[in-house]
Amino acid sequence: MTAGPLVVLVGPMGSGKSTVGALLAERLGAPYRDTDADIVAAEGREISDIFVEDGEEHFRALERAAVATAVAEHEGVLALGGGAILDAGTRALLAGLPVAYLSMDVDEAVRRVGLNTARPLLAVNPRRQWRELMEARRHLYEEVARAVVATDDRTPEEVAQAVLDALELKDV
Ligand code: S3P
Repeated sequence: MTAGPLVVLVGPMGSGKSTVGALLAERLGAPYRDTDADIVAAEGREISDIFVEDGEEHFRALERAAVATAVAEHEGVLALGGGAILDAGTRALLAGLPVAYLSMDVDEAVRRVGLNTARPLLAVNPRRQWRELMEARRHLYEEVARAVVATDDRTPEEVAQAVLDALELKDV
């Protein structure tokens, strides 16, 4: 039985989970881990290839397992893929953990993610897809979050500081 992650970051793609997660890890003197990277390493292929070759459902099954493993064994900063919270079992796993939801508004999202083809869910009509995606997910991010941290017009350093403050974590 481990103590569990110090921080779990959730939020949509482009909200800065990896950048902020790496900064938080540095501030907390703890390792950083990212379930997207775990899946890519285990599968030996990019996430966009998993989506194209095997479909989203298969990716979600890989993701569910990756999150369960990481939550059980990681004691540092953990960032989850943007859609991980779609799974009810994953949401149950996050109950009671120090989860921060990095939020951002639509304009900011389209600016940051735009037409990035490595993000398969936003490849076509990003603004409309973004709206639909957030309508489906916003309440799920809020459900799992202990803290909601807005990222609009903030630098990654400012967001990291806001996460530390909101979760009452002390840096090293
Ligand atoms: C996804 C977000 C991505 C990645 C996959 C699906 C999503 O992760 O897991 O492309 O459904 O929002 P990031 O949030 O790290 O970009």
